[in-house]
Amino acid sequence: MKKYLLYEHGVQSPRWQTDYLPQFHQWLTRKTPYLFREDFCGTARISCEWVKQSDRHRALGLDLDPEPLRIARERNVSKLTDQEKSRIGLKRQDVRTRTSQKFDMIGAFNFSCFTFLNRKDLLTYFKAAHASLKKPGTLFLEIAGGPGFVEPGHESRKFSVPGVGKVEQIWEQHQYDPITAINDYSIHFRLPDGTWLQDAFQYHWRIWGISELREALQDAGFRKSVVLWEQVDRRGRGTGELLPTESAELPESYVAYLVGVK
Ligand SMILES: C[S@@+](CC[C@H](N)C(=O)[O-])C[C@H]1O[C@@H](n2cnc3c(N)ncnc32)[C@H](O)[C@@H]1O
Repeated sequence: MKKYLLYEHGVQSPRWQTDYLPQFHQWLTRKTPYLFREDFCGTARISCEWVKQSDRHRALGLDLDPEPLRIARERNVSKLTDQEKSRIGLKRQDVRTRTSQKFDMIGAFNFSCFTFLNRKDLLTYFKAAHASLKKPGTLFLEIAGGPGFVEPGHESRKFSVPGVGKVEQIWEQHQYDPITAINDYSIHFRLPDGTWLQDAFQYHWRIWGISELREALQDAGFRKSVVLWEQVDRRGRGTGELLPTESAELPESYVAYLVGVK
């Protein structure tokens, strides 16, 4: 399945998550996280990166869809050493069901919690994640928003994929519904030979506001939540640095992390 390879190169940067997010965990809990659960793991790139860090680092990836899990095993887990393989697990499971094993840190990346369209499902997920965390433990949610994230339009970028060549990726935003806060998104790819992969990935998301998510985390039992927000320079341009922030000016669009602390 070529589309997962293209997605991994176009969308993901798993080293960023494994380098930076544990530093925030350490700051929030005074502990090093070793046990990590990757929710909505897809092809489990972050879990694979996680177990490379030391022989104490273990990871479990959860996803509902058997297809990315198969690709994860065939293409990503297969490249790990036997030692690393023994420290990673992948499971087909709904993240709204708690795991019997407890973790230091759980991550839900690429806006995956937006898949829950109503508060009941969102809260069920947050409660299950809370019950699956050790104390102290952290739930990292990668989220996005701002007017530029809901306006209809296309954004194109090109990148190289080993063995494939220069690929064009088009991110398409459809019509946002201001009443339901639901929007559809698509990722299309154009391959070097001109092949067009229409709707390689499609998302039907509720664009939750940060305050709504924080209140739901609180209702699920999290002791506190912290917003990691991109800082801006004197010209108002994003610096790439995320810092805990309680109030901000609205940018055109944002990607941020919301951390629930147990
Ligand atoms: C946006 S993709 C994210 C892939 C990857 N985590 C990333 O960061 O790029 C969403 C994934 O969540 C999975 N998914 C959707 N609902 C789920 C649920 N309730 N429980 C577990 N996985 C779910 C889908 O199968 C899909 O692989």
